[in-house]
Amino acid sequence: MKTLVIFYSLEGNTRFISEIVAKELQADIIELKTVKSFPSTGIKKFVWGGKSVVLKERPELKNKNIDLSDYENIIIGTPIWAGTYAAPFNTFFKQYKFSGKKVAFFACHAGGGTEKCFKMFKKSLPDNTFVGEIDFIDPLKKDKKENNSKAINWAKSLTFD
Ligand SMILES: Cc1cc2nc3c(=O)[nH]c(=O)nc-3n(C[C@H](O)[C@H](O)[C@H](O)COP(=O)(O)O)c2cc1C
Repeated sequence: MKTLVIFYSLEGNTRFISEIVAKELQADIIELKTVKSFPSTGIKKFVWGGKSVVLKERPELKNKNIDLSDYENIIIGTPIWAGTYAAPFNTFFKQYKFSGKKVAFFACHAGGGTEKCFKMFKKSLPDNTFVGEIDFIDPLKKDKKENNSKAINWAKSLTFD
């Protein structure tokens, strides 16, 4: 049974957790990257990222022809943008339809939006089985060590059978 961790990260927090989870589960890992980078500093990052979510934009992905057929289990990681998942996942969900997988999510955020984000994930992924969800508050900036353990424990708790 193969597991894939697929994530997008603008500032590194989601990448940090993704790498821990993938290592713990000996999973493959794919980072979604956009052709045109989002600004990652200052007010611009909120303006451009926020706009992309509000306008439901689908930024073009550098990743081409991702083959999900090998994976029974998929773990998705995102930063929360304007209360939901980051816009590159709009593109991903449009391009890659999958069903019958076991899916877990995690989100990194600065304090809010998790509930809506997970609801949106579930809505975007019909006909899959959801096996876990968890959130982390800016894990690179705050309590890095504790978040490292939290990610490992969560990965261990996921039951894909
Ligand atoms: C465009 C944008 C919108 C954001 N919106 C939210 C939000 O609605 N709620 C929240 O708690 N954090 C929000 N944040 C903060 C990020 O979710 C948070 O810092 C996260 O840990 C960043 O993950 P990353 O380093 O993987 O990009 C936002 C950040 C950006 C850039």
